[in-house]
Amino acid sequence: MDMETGNRSGAVADPVGLIIRQKDPNNLEMPFDQLGDFITPSELFYIRSHFPTPKLDPVACRLSIRGAVHRELRLSYAEIRAMPARTCVATLECAGNGRVFMVPPAPGAQWELGAVGNAEWTGVSLAMLLERAGLADDVCELVLEGADRGVPKEEPKPPGTISYARSISRARAMQDDVLIAWQMNGQDLTPDHGYPMRAIVPGHYGMASVKWLTDIVASTQPFHGYWQTSDYGYWDDSSGVPVRRPLAEMKLKSQIARPRVYETLQPGRPYTIFGAAWAGDTDATEIWISLDGGESWVQGDFLDPINRHAWRRWKYDWITPAKPGRYTLLARATGADQRVQPDRHDPNFGSYVIDHPLPIEVFVAALSQPG
Ligand code: MTE
Repeated sequence: MDMETGNRSGAVADPVGLIIRQKDPNNLEMPFDQLGDFITPSELFYIRSHFPTPKLDPVACRLSIRGAVHRELRLSYAEIRAMPARTCVATLECAGNGRVFMVPPAPGAQWELGAVGNAEWTGVSLAMLLERAGLADDVCELVLEGADRGVPKEEPKPPGTISYARSISRARAMQDDVLIAWQMNGQDLTPDHGYPMRAIVPGHYGMASVKWLTDIVASTQPFHGYWQTSDYGYWDDSSGVPVRRPLAEMKLKSQIARPRVYETLQPGRPYTIFGAAWAGDTDATEIWISLDGGESWVQGDFLDPINRHAWRRWKYDWITPAKPGRYTLLARATGADQRVQPDRHDPNFGSYVIDHPLPIEVFVAALSQPG
């Protein structure tokens, strides 16, 4: 869909590139004010990697499915590509997206709004592979492991180097939409996005979608690896006792793409505020905008239909105030389950899950005096 939003064309003809949050390994985010089409072009899709991108030979590499299975599988890239493929659109958001808005500042990559994107993924359904391997009755989780290795940053650190590994529940793994993907937006994955193969777990924060996937291990025990305890974990409450749990589904969230922070707008003019909303465990069904820092809210319109696990772009046609000054814009989505985004960040999520309405401060200029 092409549209006039933010007082210029919504479709980006010449993508302007990504913002560096870390050079090596590559951690790059999309300038979110470049939001245009429903599908984020691959060149504008954020990259979040903990370790250097491994160089995998698609001829030599194998995907092994092992652990508590009846038949171990070692599949080549060619074999996987020859299997019946599925395509789905899914939004990936890094759990730390928006961290730069946290007060006081939180450690970790200082993501603004652009560690999120919406792509079309093609691959084979994980459930089909698991059916071929035959899961033992007592399997509860599937551990997905990538080829990348290194020493992680956050304490407590494990001894030596480790791989990137995350687990998902058996129930989630057996749903058809979890993919072992080899294409993104109709092209083979790029090295930074997981070439030759990666997992896509629609609806979960990006950390679940393991890149450079080499091993799937069926486990009869809950997996307590580094990336779901030390990192990408949160504090839950179990009968008054704090317990550590892995992050999973993305929370309902909306973001303003245009105007951008500290943009100067002309007074008393039409301006289309433009953004996107998404959720992992519900659908965004309403979008509300505040033009006065949260004092009052007006309803915006969605531009995309509900498409589970894909974002919905939205707009609000605003007449900018006649009075010059500083204004704080906010967006807040409501879900199909009638829940709304929370007013503030929940400290139990540490420096993750920044799902409260993020303030976009803009300036309205004074009318320039003739002569
Ligand atoms: N998979 C591996 N093997 N190594 C990683 O560092 N990062 C995860 C996930 N999969 C990661 C990984 C995180 S935190 C996110 S948000 C997504 O990949 C980002 O996917 P992208 O770089 O394709 O946008």
